[in-house]
Amino acid sequence: MDRRDFMQTTAALAGLTLASGAMAACAQEATDKDSEGYWQTIIDQYKVTDEFINLNAGHWGIMSEPVREAFAEHTAFINAYSSFYVGHGKSAIPSARNYNVERIEILGMLAEKLGVQVDELAFTRGATESMQLLISGYNKIEPGDTVIYADSAYYSMAAEMRHLEVYRKANVVQLEMPDPVEFQQSIDLFEQAIKDNPRTKLILITHMANRTGVILPLKEITAMARSYGADVIVDMAHSWGQVDFDFVDQGVDFVGFNLHKWIGAPLGVGLMYIKKERMLDIDTKSSKGPPGNDDIDNRVQTGTMNLAAVMSVRDALNFVDGIGIEHIDKRFRALRHRWTQHFIDDPRVDILSPEDPRMHCGLTSFRINAHPDSRALGRQLLTDYAINTAPIPQYNGIRVAPGLYSSMEDMDALTAAIKEIATSLE
Ligand SMILES: Cc1ncc(COP(=O)(O)O)c(C=O)c1O
Repeated sequence: MDRRDFMQTTAALAGLTLASGAMAACAQEATDKDSEGYWQTIIDQYKVTDEFINLNAGHWGIMSEPVREAFAEHTAFINAYSSFYVGHGKSAIPSARNYNVERIEILGMLAEKLGVQVDELAFTRGATESMQLLISGYNKIEPGDTVIYADSAYYSMAAEMRHLEVYRKANVVQLEMPDPVEFQQSIDLFEQAIKDNPRTKLILITHMANRTGVILPLKEITAMARSYGADVIVDMAHSWGQVDFDFVDQGVDFVGFNLHKWIGAPLGVGLMYIKKERMLDIDTKSSKGPPGNDDIDNRVQTGTMNLAAVMSVRDALNFVDGIGIEHIDKRFRALRHRWTQHFIDDPRVDILSPEDPRMHCGLTSFRINAHPDSRALGRQLLTDYAINTAPIPQYNGIRVAPGLYSSMEDMDALTAAIKEIATSLE
C-alpha cells in the first residue's frame, strides 16, 4: 500500500478493527449481557494491575485494551504525520486523513448518543475545563444577582461559583446538602434557596456527587429553577457513561462532561454542551473573535490538544456502546449491591448514598462510625487488604468506585475488609 492509500484507509481500519474486537467479545454472550459469564468477557478486555484491587474508577477510568491499543496506534500515526494531519496535508491532497474532519465525525457520534446537534458540542481537556468555561462564561449575571451551589459540588466548580462574587459581583449562596438527602428534599432545598433569594440567576447542579455518589433529581430541579427564571449549569463528570438516563429529557442547557472517566477514553478529553439557542449566554474567548457569534468552538480555547486521545474517543464509544448503557448501569448497581447489602442494617457502618434507586448507581461511599480518620482508613485498606479506594475526609468516609473491570469477588474482598475493620473497633 502506498503512503496515500495508507492515509485514506487507516481511519476506517482503526474504527473497524477496534469495534470488531469489542463486538467479538460481546457476541460470546449476546443473549444475556447481565450474566457473570458475559461480564467476565468484558473484564478480560482490561489489563489492570494485580498488586491491588482498584476501586477508584471515579478518579479516571482505565482504558479497555481495544481502546488502549487504538490510542497507541493513533499516537504512532500523529507522531508520523504531524501537522500534515491537522491541515497542511488535506489542503495539498484532498483525500488525506484530517483531524478536523475526524473530530467532527467523533463529535457526531457523541451528539447522536446524547440526542443533540453536533454544533452544540465541543471537546475540552476535561470536566473541569468545560465547567469553568461555562460558569465563568455565563454572562447573564448582573451585580447583586444570586448564584447557588451545594456543598456537595466538586471543589473546583464550587471555587468557580464563589469567584463569581469577584468577577460578576454576584451574591453567592452555598447550600448544605444533608447526608443522606432524599429525592424531594433535595428539590425543596434548592427551591427554598431561590425563594430566599428572589434574584437567583444561576444554579450549579452536580448530577452525581463525587464524594458520596448521590444522584440529584436533575430534571425536576432544572424545571423548578426555570419556573423561577433561574438557569442551571450541570456537572455530569460522573453520571453520563455510568448511569442510564435520557439526556434530552433532563431539559438542560449548559453541561460539562469528561470522557476519561466513565466513557473510558484516554486521559485528557472532556466535552462541553451548550444548547444552540443559549449560545450567546456564554461568552466567547478573546482569541476567538468578537461576541455575538453562536459558534461553540469560539467558546473554547484549549490550545493544542492530545489529538490521539480525541481520536480514541471513537474507539471508547464503540467499546461502551457494544455493551450498552442499560447493561453498564445494571452492572454497576449489581456491584454496589454486592457490598452495600451487608451494611444496610449494620449500625457500625453508614452507606452515604440513599437506597432510593433514582439516587444512586455504582459509585458509593461508606463510613465506619468508630473510625476517626478516613485517610488512615484508606491507607489501611490499601496496606492490609490491597484495596485502592478514595478517602473523603469531608464525610469521614471512603469512596468505592468500581469500574467495568471490577468483579463480584472484588466487592466481596471489600465487604470482608469493612467487616473485619468494624469488628476490630468494637
Ligand atoms: C463531580 C466532578 N466534576 C468534575 C471533575 C473533574 O473532572 P476532570 O478530571 O475531567 O477535570 C471531577 C473529578 O473527579 C468530579 O468528580
